[in-house]
Amino acid sequence: MSLLNWIDSRFPLTETWNKHIAEYYAPKNFNFFYFFGSLAMLCLVLQIVTGIFLTMHYKPDAEMAFASVEYIMRDVPGGWFIRYMHSTGASMFFIVIYLHMFRGLIYGSFKGPRELVWLIGMLIYLALMAEAFMGYLLPWGQMSFWGAQVIINLFNTIPYIGDVVSTTIRGDFVISDPTLNRFFAFHVVAVPLILVGLVFVHIVALHTVGSNNPDGVEIKKLKDEKGIPLDGIAFHPYYTVKDIVGVVVFLIVFFFIVFFMPEGGGYFIEHANFEPANALKTPEHIAPVWYFTPFYTVLRAVPDPWYGTLAMFAAIAVLFVLPWLDKNPIKSVRYRNKAHLINLAWFSVTFIVLGVLGVMAVTDGLKELGTRGTQIYFLFFAVTYVHSRPRQVNYLMWFVILLVSVLFWDLLRYDSSFTDNQSSLFWQMLLIPVAYLATTLLLPHFVGAANEEKEVPTRVTG
Ligand code: HEM
Repeated sequence: MSLLNWIDSRFPLTETWNKHIAEYYAPKNFNFFYFFGSLAMLCLVLQIVTGIFLTMHYKPDAEMAFASVEYIMRDVPGGWFIRYMHSTGASMFFIVIYLHMFRGLIYGSFKGPRELVWLIGMLIYLALMAEAFMGYLLPWGQMSFWGAQVIINLFNTIPYIGDVVSTTIRGDFVISDPTLNRFFAFHVVAVPLILVGLVFVHIVALHTVGSNNPDGVEIKKLKDEKGIPLDGIAFHPYYTVKDIVGVVVFLIVFFFIVFFMPEGGGYFIEHANFEPANALKTPEHIAPVWYFTPFYTVLRAVPDPWYGTLAMFAAIAVLFVLPWLDKNPIKSVRYRNKAHLINLAWFSVTFIVLGVLGVMAVTDGLKELGTRGTQIYFLFFAVTYVHSRPRQVNYLMWFVILLVSVLFWDLLRYDSSFTDNQSSLFWQMLLIPVAYLATTLLLPHFVGAANEEKEVPTRVTG
């Protein structure tokens, strides 16, 4: 105890512990979706620790990189275990992050006063994508090389300065040793530091405004005489114990994959990556790792490479402005109208479909489906804006405006050189955005029950 006093008079240890853990009052109705913040922190720690051990044996040299990974797998004691934890950890990190973001979407956690928590989260997401992309080059396998080739070439499409940008990223005119060296530096030092810093401010911002919850009720509005929210419970021990349950279940799944299916069916480590990089041999089918594929499909949905690149970046950028698109004061999907629930369901399914399409080889049918999915992806944000004011909005007018915008997009891409098959797919699949707009805009217009919002309780439920 005296040691603690000694520290406390020199550093606010007890004060910090109390402020952020023992006396941080979180809503008492956290559910399953609230596991993923702490799990994301666990993933970050796992990646950093396993990464440090990999770096002890890995060689960032185009001549030796692939062999050094094989050496880790075969000769370094426990090397295979560390490497598979790191590769599985990358995919698990993204599963956790997507569920964490989905929670934000359904419970309106991105809305005021948590806009900054969301924005910092989005920066984390960008940094995480950069981290994963650069890490994937390091084993110097066929897919590392060709995946990076495809993505870096996207920067070539930027008008005027494209060449300079992609050459700067590569450090050479082709992907080669300097590319590997700089990706290694970023992957091992720069981006992890940025990630840790961003996670720190993410939590500080969250603890300043307080956590949201599945009801979207602001618990700070009702406090007892000691200033403790009536619907709050201390983070420790209540949520530390709850989070440990999440950690145990997560680790069971994680180690099952590490021990029994470390390649994750070719999705966590792609088959082509067991072959060393060969600049003279293009793999038959190049696909990025699964967590990038929804955006890869958006890229492929636009025939012009520069506009495709723009669409891909726009698909990520639009998530940043979500807090300003959805101004509906009701946060949680529980109390919003049915049309909003339907909109969220369409978006979730579309995101998964775009992801699945991104790993598949293109056929006429899949390409058209990818384009329709891309249209719905962007329409979702427009419809979210429309749903912000369900009482005053003219759904019919918005249905027409958005349908015309889809038709305008279609007009731009309809090509007289379409084959009969492409042309009939084009018309058949036009039904998809029409069905989307009908269920999200016409339904609440014609069926009053689909436009009914429920009263938000003053206290949390359940
Ligand atoms: C390394 C990645 C991340 C870590 C370690 C992390 C960590 C956390 C933690 C521990 C919480 C509080 C517990 C919880 O609500 O589950 C939280 C809340 C939150 N995070 Fe993250 N996060 C990460 C990435 C993201 C991303 C990518 C987004 C969205 C773009 C995001 C948005 C949010 C929001 C909106 C909240 C408040 C949720 C609420 O109170 O309902 N986070 N985060």
